[in-house]
Amino acid sequence: MLWIKALHIIFVTSWFAGLFYLPRLFVNHAMESNEATLARLALMEHKLYRFMTPLAVLALAFGLWLWLFYHISGGWLHAKLGLVAGLIAYHFYCGKIMRDFKAGKNARSHVWYRWFNEAPVLILFAVVVLVVVKPF
Ligand code: HEM
Repeated sequence: MLWIKALHIIFVTSWFAGLFYLPRLFVNHAMESNEATLARLALMEHKLYRFMTPLAVLALAFGLWLWLFYHISGGWLHAKLGLVAGLIAYHFYCGKIMRDFKAGKNARSHVWYRWFNEAPVLILFAVVVLVVVKPF
């Protein structure tokens, strides 16, 4: 089980690298007007999203493996799964934002994206406290 938990934590961490960096690119993208830079940011976002999506799938797969094969459960895990559902929605919403930028349809300011960038930090804080401290 410890190998599965280690792989779970490794892919969760890798997924979060993308969840932290992609919205940062959106902040820069929303402030940019130079055509060449806009195209480069769109390419970076596309490559990052394509890279972080399989990492998300592996993080979730090893989490499900821990839950379903080792019968680890509790109120903390149900609360955690609620937050994880929010994280998955955030991931797919980043995909929509990326496509909107590519199509020149972005309507949000860089300030909005700075606040948007904070959401994964709050979710990570809550999930790690739930899974390590198991308060309920
Ligand atoms: C389908 C989604 C997920 C499921 C079913 C799941 C399930 C689990 C389970 C059953 C454990 C073992 C807990 C224990 O041994 O006490 C675990 C460990 C862990 N999970 Fe997840 N997890 C999921 C997603 C995530 C996500 C998205 C994060 C990060 C935000 C995360 C962070 C962690 C951490 C840090 C540990 C190690 C805790 C420890 O060693 O005490 N998990 N997960």
